[in-house]
Parts: sequence; structure tokens; C-alpha cells
Amino acid sequence: MVKGLCVIPPLILVLAALSRVWAFGTVNEPDTIGQHCEHERITRAAFACHPAVNVSDGRCFEELSLHQLAGRSGPVGHFGRGSNGAVGAPDLLDPIPEGPEAHCDNADFLDSEALGLNESYPRTRGEATAQLQTCVTHLRTRLREGIDAANRTVDDGARIIASEVDISVLDCRFSFQKLQLHMFSRGKCGAIEGFGRALHGIQDFYAHSNWADDAKPPFGPDNPPGLKRDDYPVFLDLRGENNISRQVPHTLSTGCFGGILTDGPIGKAGHPLEPGSLDCTGRVTHHTLNKDNGIIDKVTGIATSPGPNTPRSNNPRNFQRAVFAAIKDSNRQWRHFREEVRRTYGPERGNIIICSLVRDNPTKDCYGRRVAVLRDVQSGVSRVAEMQIPIHKWLMEEIEGRPHDEGPGEGQTEQNSTKSRGSSDKLWKPLPGDTLDSKDHSGAVPVVEGGLDFRASLVDLGNSPHTLPNKSSVIAMTNSVAAVLGKQIAPIWHAGDAGIRVHLGLFPPAHLDLVGPPPKQGIIATEVAKEQDLITAVLRTGGTFSVLHNPEAVPSFLHYVVSRGLTQYDNAGDTATLLLPGLSISDYVTLESEPRRFSFDAHSMDNVIISVAPITPRLSLHVSVRHVRRNLVLQELDIGLRGNKTFRAALGIDDIPRTDAWFELEVEHIEGDGLQGSGLFEVSLETEDVRRGGEFERQQRIENSEADSKTHDEL
Ligand SMILES: *[C@@H]1O[C@H](CO)[C@@H](O)[C@H](O)[C@H]1NC(C)=O
Ligand SMILES: *[C@@H]1O[C@H](CO)[C@@H](O)[C@H](O)[C@H]1NC(C)=O
Ligand SMILES: *[C@@H]1O[C@H](CO)[C@@H](O)[C@H](O)[C@H]1NC(C)=O
Ligand SMILES: *[C@@H]1O[C@H](CO)[C@@H](O)[C@H](O)[C@H]1NC(C)=O
Ligand SMILES: *[C@@H]1O[C@H](CO)[C@@H](O)[C@H](O)[C@H]1NC(C)=O
Ligand SMILES: *[C@@H]1O[C@H](CO)[C@@H](O)[C@H](O)[C@H]1NC(C)=O
Ligand SMILES: *[C@@H]1O[C@H](CO)[C@@H](O)[C@H](O)[C@H]1NC(C)=O
Repeated sequence: MVKGLCVIPPLILVLAALSRVWAFGTVNEPDTIGQHCEHERITRAAFACHPAVNVSDGRCFEELSLHQLAGRSGPVGHFGRGSNGAVGAPDLLDPIPEGPEAHCDNADFLDSEALGLNESYPRTRGEATAQLQTCVTHLRTRLREGIDAANRTVDDGARIIASEVDISVLDCRFSFQKLQLHMFSRGKCGAIEGFGRALHGIQDFYAHSNWADDAKPPFGPDNPPGLKRDDYPVFLDLRGENNISRQVPHTLSTGCFGGILTDGPIGKAGHPLEPGSLDCTGRVTHHTLNKDNGIIDKVTGIATSPGPNTPRSNNPRNFQRAVFAAIKDSNRQWRHFREEVRRTYGPERGNIIICSLVRDNPTKDCYGRRVAVLRDVQSGVSRVAEMQIPIHKWLMEEIEGRPHDEGPGEGQTEQNSTKSRGSSDKLWKPLPGDTLDSKDHSGAVPVVEGGLDFRASLVDLGNSPHTLPNKSSVIAMTNSVAAVLGKQIAPIWHAGDAGIRVHLGLFPPAHLDLVGPPPKQGIIATEVAKEQDLITAVLRTGGTFSVLHNPEAVPSFLHYVVSRGLTQYDNAGDTATLLLPGLSISDYVTLESEPRRFSFDAHSMDNVIISVAPITPRLSLHVSVRHVRRNLVLQELDIGLRGNKTFRAALGIDDIPRTDAWFELEVEHIEGDGLQGSGLFEVSLETEDVRRGGEFERQQRIENSEADSKTHDEL
């Protein structure tokens, strides 16, 4: 089906003119076709970087990259200028546009019995849901194609391959389904195409269904009820692999699209002259439900002039509701795409891939970091190293005291990849008296008492002629308890102001081999307050704060740091960070930065025990654990003042239906009864080999009764 494009060859123009419109449009030709690049404008409203932000943190697309996704329309009524974006690709003739599954059409249903209508509806709920499943499955496939192609933007060493990301000379071309294996396209274009094609269907879902609609009785096939929902349909989480039938509301409907010649207020039989047209007799039609056209502000998403000639647009709010829902869900889909890239390729490689997709000059902009590695050493000793991209192994070696000198890191490799991996320049300073020279390479970290000195390393970090502060970070590890680090709060606060991320890892007091979070008793109130100030100062930089349960947890600590994003360039705060054994992580909920998300794996031989507890007094939290592939919330609980102190979820063998057992933990605040809307909490995960037993039993005794009573059957 032809849905129209922003830039269209004449053949399509003729067909599109014939056809009126069947989706959020993609043509900027209001007079003949009645379209105003709706997909492009929705996509721009969702993904354009704020004018004050030149550099994407992963959430927005920089200008040229956005053109590839959204398309670039010419002035009104002009054809043959600009380019079509990936989001418009499903409407292209190549040789025919994608079918109803790409637009979520034909999933129509009306409960005529419940509405007291004489005629029984020609389709069952089950048939409609099966058609919707076809759409969701198709969009999942598109998303997966994008994820697969994205891996081609970087080489084995996570270096960006210049030829796979270069869009400076030639726009991406999204056409010819037979060639959609993406083997011949640039990796960046293939990734944007897969994502854009999925996005098209997501946006169309809101234009073609009654999900967000407001409707007034009397109801019938020419006026089905509206669901007036403003939440996300859970079945449109394209990371899922589940059968959606239990997630689809009974009264949800999209429109039956008979064909160009028969789409009208009442469903008709297909037209014999139109190949592939469908018999929509007596059914809710595309014409009846669609809110495809109107003028959308490409910055604010505010919609005007809906319609004309579509009954659902007669309530002007309906078009606006569909547009806002499409913008909001587009952002969710991009987060899910990023989550899946990070999941599939690991956060280290994933962050670079995402950088290569959203930035216009990734071979330059995704490189260059400065990191100060701090441990308890004598005052005045600090080490600042330059690295190109955050690589776990490289950071681990730094912490073990192994210097790097891999040259300047410029130039290209044989594959035309850019820069060399984790290269450091001559700014490396092994200072006299640096006790870390007596390193051992066993993986254990040498730690010397004496406290940290952030001030000195911040001065060093600031002394860079060629690295921005927000490409810098501090990784600090200490034996000191948080309460005695009060002197560091001010410099850490300044680091935050300067855009430098601070990651702080605390070891438990020496020789204390703890399992689980270290005990907190014996600390007096002022120390607790000071500790909270310290944690807040660290988290405010965008960095991480965690307590390591033992020295062997250092690799976990660094994985956590890389997954959060070493510097402000490395990862947006909305994605899930890794939750790994051996760490108690402190995090912060605020209205702007919630829910906080964590992801973890469970293997068939593990029991996994997750605990979440508020740190800030009077803070109440809502905690939930989702099985991402089954697209199912396994357990949720409110904790804090009124409820239980801690959330505890134990996942066993039964929760793990496949090797890719991907779980997501979400934490957000709940308000009411004078409770605070923001504050600190602590989260940790322990795994337990079920074949051993023991520890799991111990944990079960710690758990509280309320958590048990709310536990779902799955657990
Ligand atoms: C942002 O980009 C514009 C145009 O590309 C440039 O003129 C401006 O200086 C940039 N601003 C910053 C803060 O880099
Ligand atoms: C519905 O059925 C009733 C009685 O069976 C009949 O009187 C009425 O005319 C029918 N209405 C329609 C719209 O067909
Ligand atoms: C991603 O690409 C690299 C080669 O650059 C390859 O080694 C790796 O297996 C790929 N990952 C997946 C999950 O396909
Ligand atoms: C999904 O579940 C429904 C109801 O159990 C079933 O009828 C349908 O065949 C299933 N769909 C798929 C694709 O397995
Ligand atoms: C690297 O770039 C050069 C020049 O653009 C090109 O000739 C060569 O084929 C490229 N090599 C690879 C492996 O892509
Ligand atoms: C980093 O700082 C520069 C200059 O202050 C600014 O232009 C850029 O937008 C910042 N980048 C991020 C990701 O905050
Ligand atoms: C929460 O759990 C504790 C035990 O850990 C129990 O004493 C308390 O009653 C529980 N709170 C509520 C509100 O159930």
C-alpha cells in the first residue's frame, strides 16, 4: 500500500493522489494528497536534539543522522528534493510498499453483542488479535534487522569503521525489499532502516487504532468505542518474544483496509480492478478510524488542521492524542533499541555503536576520554591517562597499575577503522612515591591507607588542551568508609559542575569478607547524613557509587561503570545499567531521572536474589522486575515508609525459559502522605547455585512476610 512519501518519484505521486491517505502521511503535498510529512514531523519532534545541545548523549539524533531517520522534505508542494527517511520506507514502492503488517491494519473488532447490535461482527476477537500479532512480529523482525546491522559500524576492537558510518556525501537509501538483507548498505544505514521501518508501524498504530481515541455513542462499525488510553501498549515492547493475546484489550480495534478504491465509512467488498484488495464488508474500516493527516509542529508536536474527511478527526483532540502518543512511543522504542544493542553486544561495544548511529561525525566525536584513576595514596599523587574509548580491560589494567602507552591513537587500521583501542598519550605520569608501582598482576588491587584526594586529580583533569571536561571522569576506589570522606564532597560537587563524572567504589574494611551489603550499625546520625551527602554529590555528576563486597568485585565495579557510561559522552541516563553480583549500588530517584533501570541475567543453575531498599528516610519506592523476552512483570512491590523495608525477588529455574534470560529492574518513587519525591536507595544482586543450597536458605529467612504474600505464582 502506498502511504505517500516526503520526496516521491512521479509514479508514486500518481498512485498516492489516487489513494488519498492511509497512514500518518509522509508526503508534504497538502493540496493534492492531503499529507504533510506526518511521519517526518513526528520523528523530528521525537528525536531532534535540543538547539542548545550540539552533541547527542544517545537519546537524540544529530542533524544529518536525523535526516536519514526522519527524511528531509523540501518546501511544501515540491517533489524531488531532499530525501526519504527510514521511517517513510515502508510506504515506498520497491516494487510494492509493505503490506498491512507494516501499518498494523486489519486488526478490527467490535463486540456487537455487548453493544446490543443486531448484526454479529464478521471477525472474532481472536482473529483481530492474531492479525495484530502479525504486525507486532513483523515490527520485531524489523527492529532485529536494525540491531544486526548496527554491529557492522564497529570492528572487533569496538573501533568505528569509517566507511560504515559515513553519510556526509550520500544519504542512506532505503528501498528494494529484496536487497534489505542490508549486506550492501552501510552499517549505519542498515541500523537506521531497521529501526525506522519498525517506527513507522508504531506510529501508524496510534493513527489507525482506537487506543488513544475519545469517541461518543452510539457505537457501531462506523463508530467503534475509543479506549482513550495514554499509557504505552505493553504488547508494543518489541524486545518481547511473547504471544501478545493476553495483553490486548478486548475493545481494541484497528481499521480494515479494503484497498484504494473501497476504503470508506462502511466496509465494502474488495474492488475487482484492484489486485490484493480485501473484503471489508460490515467491518470497521481504515477510513472510519484513521487520524492520519494534519499539520504537526516538528518541534513541539502540536497538531492543527486534522483531517479532513476522516470521522475520527472530527474530534480534533483525537489527532493530537494520536500524535503525542506516537512521539512518546517513538522515544520508548529508541530506548528499547539502545537497550537491545547494549544487551546484544555488551555495554562497552554497544555504547560505541549507539554513538556511531546518533552522531554526525562519529569517527571524531566518539573518541577521546581523560580518566583519573584514584586510590588511597599519599596526598598529591594522582594519575591522569588519556584513552580513546572506554574499554573495560584497559580500565582494569589501569587500576592494577599497568600503564598504557599505545601511541597517539590516530590514523586508520587495515579495515579503515579509526583510532586505536584504548590508546593513551604521554600525559601518563608515574609519580615518585606512587606506591602502585609495586603492583601485582593477580587482579587484586593494591590499596594504601591515607584517603583520597580529588582536588589534585581534578586540577590535572582540567589541564587538558584537547579534551572537554565532559569527556573526562574520575574513577576512585578507597578503603575508607564513606563517612570519613566528608572533605571530598566539595571537590566532587565542583567536578559535577564542570561536567566531569565521578565513579566511587568503596571496599569493605580490610580482612572482612562480606557476603551482601556491609552492616551499617554503629554509625552515628551525623555520619549517616555525611554519607548521604557524599553519595548525592557523586550521583549528581552522573557517575556511580557502589560498595564492593570484596576485592574480587573490582571487575564487576568496572563493568557497572562502563554500563552507566564512563563520561557524559558515553551513555544516556535512561537506559538500564548492569546489576552484577558483588556490589551494593546506591542510586538516586528524582522526577527527571526515573524510573531507574537495572538489567541482569539469570542462568538456569542460579537462584538470583535482588534486594532494593531506600536510604533516604521517608522515601517510598515502587519496584518491579520484568522478564524482557516474555514481556511480563514477574514481581512488583511498594517499599518504604508504609510498606516493607526492602524489596526482594528471588528468581529460580522456572523463570528462565531460554538461555537469554534478560531481566529488567525498575525503581521509581511513590508520593503521598508527606513522603519525599526523590532520594537515595540501594540495590544489590546475589546469585546462588541451586545445586549447592545454603545461602539461598539464609536469604529467605531475611526476607519479610509482605514480600512473600505479594509474590506472583511465577516465583
Ligand atoms: C553548535 O553548532 C553550531 C552549528 O553547527 C555552532 O555554530 C555552535 O558554535 C555550536 N555550539 C557549541 C556549544 O558547540
Ligand atoms: C434489530 O432487530 C429488531 C428485532 O429483531 C428489529 O426490530 C430492528 O429493526 C433491528 N434493527 C436493525 C438496525 O436492523
Ligand atoms: C559483531 O561483530 C563482530 C565483528 O566485528 C563479531 O565478532 C561478533 O560476533 C558480532 N556479534 C554478534 C552478536 O553477532
Ligand atoms: C497465541 O495464543 C492464542 C491463545 O492462546 C492462540 O490462539 C494463538 O494461536 C497464539 N498465537 C501464536 C502465534 O502462537
Ligand atoms: C580502506 O579505504 C581505502 C581508501 O578509501 C580503500 O581503497 C580500501 O578498500 C578500504 N579497505 C577496506 C578493508 O575497506
Ligand atoms: C560538553 O561540553 C561542551 C562544551 O561545554 C558542550 O558543547 C557539549 O554539548 C557537552 N556535551 C555533553 C554530552 O554534555
Ligand atoms: C516488613 O518486613 C519486616 C521484616 O523484615 C516486618 O517486620 C514488617 O512488619 C514488614 N512491614 C510490613 C508493613 O509488612
